[in-house]
Amino acid sequence: MKTYICEICGDAYLGEGKPTSCPFCGARSAFIREGKDAKPVVEVKEQLSELTVKNLQETLRLELEANAIYLCMAAKTDSYEIMKMYKRLAKVEMEHAIICTKIMQIPMSEAGSESCSDDVVENFQRTLVLEDHAAGLYAKFAREANEKHVKIMFTALNQVETDHIELIKKYL
Ligand SMILES: [Fe+2]
Ligand SMILES: [Fe+2]
Repeated sequence: MKTYICEICGDAYLGEGKPTSCPFCGARSAFIREGKDAKPVVEVKEQLSELTVKNLQETLRLELEANAIYLCMAAKTDSYEIMKMYKRLAKVEMEHAIICTKIMQIPMSEAGSESCSDDVVENFQRTLVLEDHAAGLYAKFAREANEKHVKIMFTALNQVETDHIELIKKYL
């Protein structure tokens, strides 16, 4: 077994080989390194531009909102699999929120509660809208970032939300 570290969230994965994506933040395997080589973006303590702080704040808000929405959706389904899938999505989005607070070096803000539909198909459709919105925004934020580690982080998050779209499409 080896210790692998995610370059995005900084969490360690213990296993025989690299996972295809980070089990915590969902970053693709290209962002996972053997422990000795890892320099996660959350460890970079650098002055951030005003625009980057604004974009990270917007990301933090969106990720906390997504976390609350997915927890609501997890509670609305009769399917054990879909309940578990939404609970994992909620955890992944919370991990994204934590990444933002670490890069900005600020405390975590309070997560609110959100409502959602009783209809599972409507919830899948809303999930697609949310993930598509986030993916588009993070692609833009990656282009706008002058800080290398922030650019890498938004690139990884854009891919994660894109992967979530593919996951949900399989249920529709
Ligand atoms: Fe990660
Ligand atoms: Fe996210």
